Amino acid sequence: MHLIARSSSNDPSLRRPFSESPLWWEQARFFRDMGTDAWRHRVPYHGTNNVNIATSCAQIALAFMRDCIATGRDDGQPFAVVEIGTGIGRFGYYFVRALLELRQSLPGAGVSFVYWMTDAAESNLDFLRGHAPIAGLIRDDLLRLARYDPTAGELPVDLTETRFDRELVHSIDPLGQPAILIGNYLFDSLPVDLLRLAGHEIRLLHAGGSPNLSADAEMNQVLALDDLGIDLDWQPVRAPHYADANHDALLAELAGASTAAWASFPIAGLRCLDAASVLAPEGYLFMATDKGPLPEDTPLVVAEPRLTLHGGACSFSVNFPLLARYIAARGGWVASQSSRQSLTTVLFNTVAPWDALPNTDFWRRPALDEQGHAHLFALYQLLQADWKEIRPSLRQLLSFLHLARWDPRTLARLWPALRAGLGRSTAQQRRELAQGIERSLDLFYPVPGERSTIAEIAEWFFGWLGGDEDV
Ligand SMILES: C[S@@+](CC[C@H](N)C(=O)[O-])C[C@H]1O[C@@H](n2cnc3c(N)ncnc32)[C@H](O)[C@@H]1O
Repeated sequence: MHLIARSSSNDPSLRRPFSESPLWWEQARFFRDMGTDAWRHRVPYHGTNNVNIATSCAQIALAFMRDCIATGRDDGQPFAVVEIGTGIGRFGYYFVRALLELRQSLPGAGVSFVYWMTDAAESNLDFLRGHAPIAGLIRDDLLRLARYDPTAGELPVDLTETRFDRELVHSIDPLGQPAILIGNYLFDSLPVDLLRLAGHEIRLLHAGGSPNLSADAEMNQVLALDDLGIDLDWQPVRAPHYADANHDALLAELAGASTAAWASFPIAGLRCLDAASVLAPEGYLFMATDKGPLPEDTPLVVAEPRLTLHGGACSFSVNFPLLARYIAARGGWVASQSSRQSLTTVLFNTVAPWDALPNTDFWRRPALDEQGHAHLFALYQLLQADWKEIRPSLRQLLSFLHLARWDPRTLARLWPALRAGLGRSTAQQRRELAQGIERSLDLFYPVPGERSTIAEIAEWFFGWLGGDEDV
């Protein structure tokens, strides 16, 4: 399939490095103009917007804050948790709820924090400012909103109370203590360059013309570069290529591939990490969840990279191995889940070696592996798709929902299977379900365009229970 090129050109002087091609302007325009409608237009979100992954990240974050306090790295101010590319905000909402609960149950009562939901697209901030669950957290001084595009080398601009108005708004100052940064499905949406490597020669893809990404693509349709319908040309790189010696050094490291190979070069991702150091000069723990190989894998791939379309947006697999090399070269430390899952969570830490952060080091394993968010997601897909065939028992479904921490969307999707098993339920199981439904209702976070049936489920279930004295 070819997307229709709007202005393909064979004029070599109009070609630019792929990371600067109009594809990315289209992408930025899509997120800016669509706002939360982007998620109606097939940008996937359940993988990173559920209670399970948010709780896992909150466990790691609380451990990190406790480590910073224990080692005298804090300055007495609330810790900043800065989410970049927040989107619809469901992850952040669940994260804050989980952090508040964990703070009560784990040693860490003295830890205070402010969660910053940031995005380059102001339309998302406009939605969040008026969204009841978010407004409640803002009133409680737990959450703030900022426009932030770290790839543009700017600091976040506080837009909690207002839309952008040059007279009224101000950038936040660099932080006086280590910070926590979060970027989910962020790096895969940021501009990359594409490289072709053979021996010591590195060729960089140049592109001319502009693709029309708003073509009616299927959800997660994978596309070869040739199918973009733009003019492509692999040109040898002449060093120095980037205006930054560190970026060029990383590029040079890739030379010497023994057989032909390709790599995506996450140039905007590197700028994002650079910006994180400006925002948090005392260091940061950056938690990034995305599709891509584990940091210890090779940064090279054996075939030309492909991109995935999501309505009017696109994404590339994240070259976590290269981002990890960059952090290591800057004196930082990298960790990730050890198991291979459909999504990868990587921790970039520029504060201290892991053994000097013992709580963080301990919590990252259960949070990312034993309770691995994507392990659960794999089971969820199975249960959701094939429940009539698999016939899970009510006990099995309840167990799964406990592991999923009563994520409201998961409960709603599994409801038909649960309801089918109610006729043979025990009083204990009905009690568990009643408590779980209440928990889901309490966590409910509406998203425009998503039909949620949680309230209907609760009404039906509690009506069905009626005066069940055992429950
Ligand atoms: C694929 S969505 C992911 C949203 C959310 N993190 C999630 O997991 O559902 C990418 C988000 O990053 C934002 N974004 C894209 N480029 C950005 C940039 N350069 N700086 C900040 N945010 C950006 C978009 O506006 C969008 O909200």
